[in-house]
Amino acid sequence: MALIPFDDRDGFIWLDGALRPWREAKLHVLSHALHYASAVFEGERCYSGNIFRLRDHTQRLIDSGRILGFEIPYSADEIDAACIATLAANKFTEAYVRPIAWRGPEEMGVGAKATKIHVAIATWEWGAYFGVEQRMKGVRLAMAKWRRPAPDTAPTASKAAGLYMIGTLSKHAAMDEGYDDAFMLDHKGDIAEATGANAFFVIDGVIHTPTPTCFLDGITRRSVMALAKKRQMQMVERVMPASDLARASEVFVAGTAAEVTPVACIGDNTYTPGDITRTLMEDYNALVRKNPAEVMKLVA
Ligand SMILES: Cc1ncc(COP(=O)(O)O)c(C=O)c1O
Repeated sequence: MALIPFDDRDGFIWLDGALRPWREAKLHVLSHALHYASAVFEGERCYSGNIFRLRDHTQRLIDSGRILGFEIPYSADEIDAACIATLAANKFTEAYVRPIAWRGPEEMGVGAKATKIHVAIATWEWGAYFGVEQRMKGVRLAMAKWRRPAPDTAPTASKAAGLYMIGTLSKHAAMDEGYDDAFMLDHKGDIAEATGANAFFVIDGVIHTPTPTCFLDGITRRSVMALAKKRQMQMVERVMPASDLARASEVFVAGTAAEVTPVACIGDNTYTPGDITRTLMEDYNALVRKNPAEVMKLVA
């Protein structure tokens, strides 16, 4: 299927306080964010007309901006309402939602305190998913040569655009070798995450997940941990040495875009998606379709 360029679509994009025709949602080439990566964003999914954990995403957007030294000029209530309005304008009930905030063109240079903070929200349909059976085969991940940077090297707690540079490099290298995506270790050589999702490892029947010391503590990750607890599955959060990759029997990744996706291999280590992965995948698929009040009760 031919890819429709993202600047040439029908619909509406919310930009700096108002919905605009999609093709008119433009910015200047001298926007600070384009040159210096002074942008933070979110990735959300709307299921059956509700954005899953919307307020958590909105709060992370605001917090990510603060970590990059700027204040988004809208309240959490206003951003939530704008996400919902953008979906409604595009008549979507099943879609991906992408809010982004960035430093504009008002000043150029490394120091750019006079820049204004701009915000846009776009939404698009995310195509058909594989059925559970097909996804149970698992995705194939290459081991990335890039590593997640130390938290005193980059603003790793923020969902900052600049942090994705090594993700894109790693994913492209993996795809060139015939893999689906890449998996990254951290600056110390411990297990980190995939390029856009957190990871879980089943070792001797217990689920292990790396402590998010230098990567996002994902909203999906937190939801999966709550679901595992409800099932009374044992879950251990710890620093995981790379040698644990060879000890796991089942591995899955979890993220807003990836949802819960089984992993067939990470480099030379192969895994067989099994009952724990299937159960959490099904529980997550059910959770995202509950109404927001019920979701909050289940993940509390
Ligand atoms: C690098 C990275 N790690 C983890 C995640 C998972 O985060 P979440 O579950 O909040 O989408 C994402 C997705 O946003 C991501 O891009």
